[in-house]
Amino acid sequence: MNIGILGTGGVAQTLGTKLVSLGHAVKLGSRTTGNEKATAWAAQAGPTASHGTFAEAADFGELLILATLGTGTLDAIALTGPDRLAGKTVIDLTNPLDVSQGMPPKLFVGHTDSLAEMVQRAAPQAHVVKALNIVSAAQMVDPTSTGSDLDMFIAGNDAAARQQVTDLLKSFGWKNITDFGGIESARFLEPLVLLWVHYGMKTGGWAHALKFVKQ
Ligand SMILES: NC(=O)c1ccc[n+]([C@@H]2O[C@H](COP(=O)([O-])OP(=O)(O)OC[C@H]3O[C@@H](n4cnc5c(N)ncnc54)[C@H](OP(=O)(O)O)[C@@H]3O)[C@@H](O)[C@H]2O)c1
Repeated sequence: MNIGILGTGGVAQTLGTKLVSLGHAVKLGSRTTGNEKATAWAAQAGPTASHGTFAEAADFGELLILATLGTGTLDAIALTGPDRLAGKTVIDLTNPLDVSQGMPPKLFVGHTDSLAEMVQRAAPQAHVVKALNIVSAAQMVDPTSTGSDLDMFIAGNDAAARQQVTDLLKSFGWKNITDFGGIESARFLEPLVLLWVHYGMKTGGWAHALKFVKQ
């Protein structure tokens, strides 16, 4: 499948490399043409790896992944052109972290709204699915890296899109995926990242994850 990733940072590159290794073609998108990080990534990631603008990555992808800084996510969608996301599954792994007052981060939206819902409103024809925001980039592509199968939570309005994301995550090795239904559940999933960051700052390690036990 052709997959467009909006973003060029550590998460975008880690996911891009994993997706290429699974046989997908991946285009990283950025605010500018010739982004240094995207150019360097594409040069070593294999023949099905490429880079371009946000708009080019969105047009390329049958499925899209938002991997921008949380504070830049809505800007990225505006720059892309929301119509380019229409009808596509859009994985939103971004976190609404506000570090303007330093660390630890605060949320710039939460509890009664979420960044994922803002993304859905900004691109109403897209099938936005919140996923992967509560683990590290390394854990995203290797859910057994901490020695046990990690848990993942997803939310989105379109059942077929949630299933598509579930299938993609399973191809990464994810086994424990809980589907929370509509995108409004993201207002509870996004704040979980604060606990994850809090523990990371306390311990200096980033290999922990949240466990969800169901009956
Ligand atoms: N790092 C993790 O382990 C982890 C885990 C879970 C979730 N996340 C979430 O994943 C997202 C990406 O994280 P990362 O670590 O890959 O971040 P990063 O390395 O800092 O990359 C951020 C990306 O956002 C773009 N960006 C920044 N400001 C922007 C703006 N105003 N408009 C458009 N694009 C903008 C950057 O573009 P340029 O290349 O042009 O600077 C870059 O492509 C974040 O939302 C983060 O909360 C990260």
